[in-house]
Amino acid sequence: MTEIVQSKKSPMRRLARTLSASPLMKRGRELWEQNALQWEMPLTKWDKLWCGGYIILKDYSDHIFPPKFEDQSKAYENEINYTKSLPGYSVEQARVACSTKPLWGAKNSTRYMAQFNQLYRMLESAGVRPPQKLLEMGCGCGWMAEFLATAGYSVVGTSISPIEINWAKEKVAALACKQAKGQLSFLAEPMESVDNIPGARGTFDAVYVYEALHHAYDWRKSLQASSKLLKKGGWLLLANEPNVLHTFISYRVSRLSKTHEIGFHRKELLQELKASGFDRIDVLAPKWNNWIRAFWIMAQKS
Ligand SMILES: C[S@@+](CC[C@H](N)C(=O)[O-])C[C@H]1O[C@@H](n2cnc3c(N)ncnc32)[C@H](O)[C@@H]1O
Repeated sequence: MTEIVQSKKSPMRRLARTLSASPLMKRGRELWEQNALQWEMPLTKWDKLWCGGYIILKDYSDHIFPPKFEDQSKAYENEINYTKSLPGYSVEQARVACSTKPLWGAKNSTRYMAQFNQLYRMLESAGVRPPQKLLEMGCGCGWMAEFLATAGYSVVGTSISPIEINWAKEKVAALACKQAKGQLSFLAEPMESVDNIPGARGTFDAVYVYEALHHAYDWRKSLQASSKLLKKGGWLLLANEPNVLHTFISYRVSRLSKTHEIGFHRKELLQELKASGFDRIDVLAPKWNNWIRAFWIMAQKS
């Protein structure tokens, strides 16, 4: 039977199978065996390359790569249980990491803060200013929502994961301590159906999503839902959503975490934004079409 399946493989898949089993991929194979048991195993950039290359070759030959997402309830379950399912990593560790973001060491923190500032500038350049209403899709533990509420916005953070939302809600008390003028609340809701929040349609000045749209089971439906939440003339901001290359680079992580890690094709993204009722679309990055740099897009609802 195995032989029949094997013989039905295309030459490319057979080549991938041969390569993945070859001595050339020995290092990648061994690293993957260890990494599959230990989420936080220290890996150099080269290790990650070997490891990722090995899994991609093997899964391509087994028709698993590129990933296909066919089962919505399984996809939702995996995203919800992400914090509980990382190999060799406790829920308590996940909680601390989630709740202390973006202060994950100076290097990461510098990147996150720069990206937060970029989003903040996008809001201001769109003319969306405190105390106007924002909704974040895929907010994690809500660090950006908390910052924007501290700046005076009225922010609703949403995520598919009730665990994350419970952790995020602790930030509401932190905001109260600062006596900030903004408002902050959190709700567990998948972005595909975020427009079903009672009374939410047509009430937001801006909806933003940072490094999360690519996790959605159905990103097209999520864009449509975001459009329904916005007032006429309201803005959707896509912040640091990955390009095509991410599907390859983050495949190892997606196999470990069982979550969606895909990159977007520019043409598909822009087509879908137009179809979702966004007439004015400004692609801030990448400036020219490539498969590498992440997307920063402002889209205004007509
Ligand atoms: C990479 S994290 C980014 C979180 C957050 N934006 C941050 O900066 O910390 C991706 C987030 O998307 C959420 N997510 C995944 N699928 C989702 C869906 N279908 N609807 C809403 N949130 C989703 C996850 O629970 C997680 O919070």
